Amino acid sequence: MKGKSQGSGSGGGMMHKWVLLAIGCAIVAACRTTGDGEAESRPVGKPVLSKAELQQARVAVNFRNHVRPILEERCLHCHNKRAMPGKFSLETAAEAMKDGRRIVPGKAGQSMLIVVLTTGNHAKTMPAVGTAPPSEEVEVLKRWIDAGAEWPREITLRPTE
Ligand code: HEC
Repeated sequence: MKGKSQGSGSGGGMMHKWVLLAIGCAIVAACRTTGDGEAESRPVGKPVLSKAELQQARVAVNFRNHVRPILEERCLHCHNKRAMPGKFSLETAAEAMKDGRRIVPGKAGQSMLIVVLTTGNHAKTMPAVGTAPPSEEVEVLKRWIDAGAEWPREITLRPTE
């Protein structure tokens, strides 16, 4: 059995991958509807970006116009040096990127910043309290990271009043 599937070439291997993927998806779906319903039912917050801005971000995402307002409104209240000394600060690019796993340029899927916004596990879901960002805004953050997570050094983020 083992020898056969290995010998069947890449076709068999691909098939195998798809089956595993399908099973994986089913498990994730099941968990979402059972154990982690709390995270899913968290109310979605008011949009920070307008429809026009979301549209622009789909064409060419820009830190200043699209990413900054989302982070300042939804994350900076907690993720700054004063509120959380020694923890994850999103004030400057250097701080936000220093540990190399929270924002991984080019790899949204591996970036903790995206993981905490997309996982069904409430314990790891950000913001820690309050409303969830609308999915369109999570998409903006993803697109920004996948495009290289460009953050002009002179921009320091502050929480929205
Ligand atoms: C109400 C406060 C609060 C808000 C708002 C908030 N966070 Fe957090 N966040 C926390 C706390 C507390 C932790 C856990 C810190 C720790 O133990 O290191 C955390 C942890 C994280 C981590 C994991 C850091 C690590 O390396 O383990 C990420 C990533 C994160 N937050 C992203 C975000 C993003 C993105 C937003 C905005 C959408 C956000 N957070 C909004 C309080 C908050």
